[in-house]
Amino acid sequence: MKVCVIGLGYIGLPTACLIAGAGHEVIGVDINTNIINMLATGKLPFKEKGLDELFNKVKENMRFKTQPEEADVFLIAVPTPLDKDAKIADLSYVKKACQSIKNHVKEHTLVVVESTVPPGTCELIISPLLDNKPLIAHCPERAIPGNTLYEMIHNDRVIGADSPESAEQTKNMYSSFVKGKIYLTDLRTAEIVKLMENTYRDINIALANEFAQIAEEAKVNVWEAIKLANKHPRVEILQPGPGVGGHCLAVDPWFLIERFPGSKIINLAREINDFMPRHVLKLVKELDVYPSNKITVLGVAYKKNVDDTRETPALKFIKLAEKEGYKVKIHDPLVKEFEYELVSLNEAIENSSCLILITDHDVFKEIKPKEVSKLMAAYNMVDSRDFFNHNEWVEAGFRVKVLGNGKI
Ligand SMILES: NC(=O)c1ccc[n+]([C@@H]2O[C@H](COP(=O)([O-])OP(=O)(O)OC[C@H]3O[C@@H](n4cnc5c(N)ncnc54)[C@H](O)[C@@H]3O)[C@@H](O)[C@H]2O)c1
Repeated sequence: MKVCVIGLGYIGLPTACLIAGAGHEVIGVDINTNIINMLATGKLPFKEKGLDELFNKVKENMRFKTQPEEADVFLIAVPTPLDKDAKIADLSYVKKACQSIKNHVKEHTLVVVESTVPPGTCELIISPLLDNKPLIAHCPERAIPGNTLYEMIHNDRVIGADSPESAEQTKNMYSSFVKGKIYLTDLRTAEIVKLMENTYRDINIALANEFAQIAEEAKVNVWEAIKLANKHPRVEILQPGPGVGGHCLAVDPWFLIERFPGSKIINLAREINDFMPRHVLKLVKELDVYPSNKITVLGVAYKKNVDDTRETPALKFIKLAEKEGYKVKIHDPLVKEFEYELVSLNEAIENSSCLILITDHDVFKEIKPKEVSKLMAAYNMVDSRDFFNHNEWVEAGFRVKVLGNGKI
């Protein structure tokens, strides 16, 4: 088959390489000319485990362009971000992608949508934009950055399709590289399944965050309590923290709320998780750190050991802290680009009155309380991930607050 992949980002590019590796001819399309130029000269625009090796093996089967051309299959993997003010999916990229393939799509061409979309999008928005009545399928992506290729091959997949013919053709294409099971359903079910998965995790984290606040009042350590509760064979509580980030968990529940505004628990979970940066700031204030003081944020990536800051709760924490008059210095050795200036550890802690750990990067384990105290103006530390060895910090003279730990 000749497959045209529209959007060569974290999802589109690895998928395109896997499809090429399965022996299909692949045309990779992206509107970003830098990406196309890099790929055309054999370079990858981002790092992902195993992608270098795979790309080098399969690039002979691939061509890269800024405009689509005729193909048997079009696979759409463009962004579907959240419109932050309206809290609805921004489908402008999907619509533009459809416009760009419209003239190449014929009656039996297969169009597979991998982008995460609100329920009904394939039927009500994508299908009417492609007037030659192609076969339409939705195959949402479940892979995690950092292990994308493995998960794309080994995870089970759900394919929603508008007809048995679409379902069969889509299954044929995916089974050429997927080792997990493939389940077939209708378009709307596939759309909603993807959103349910991430909403489930968001709600579970909201519950953990609520438990954390209860534990602080009840003088209990929630981290220990969750470990013990999870010994129950049917309980699996996730971890609390300074808020939920990333382009999936903090975004996808809104795609359900947008279509079903009456949802109660989904709205509430978003509210609880969005409140967490404010809660972390409350812990800082409880240590008597005054707004005129300099404070230090450690970590702005949305999760540990990655450089990704999309939807990171660190940004909300920093904005709130600044609004209240704190001077915030920020250190994250993994992140290259951020809305605020990132400085070295020493610069970030010099004259600081409080360290606040937002992201639990492994590299922060190297921070020694005795060493950093030499540079700080006052010895306070807030750990929002139960990451540090707190006894060590207390022994070094620090006053310590741990999110969810009412024992300290
Ligand atoms: N990254 C993940 O881990 C992940 C996981 C599950 C689902 N998803 C979903 O997959 C979709 C893609 O996400 P991503 O992380 O790969 O995004 P991304 O931002 O990394 O990549 C998208 C690419 O599409 C390109 N693009 C935008 N409009 C285009 C157009 N009209 N024609 C051609 N190219 C166009 C952009 O230039 C960009 O390179 C989103 O809907 C996302 O929610 C992502």
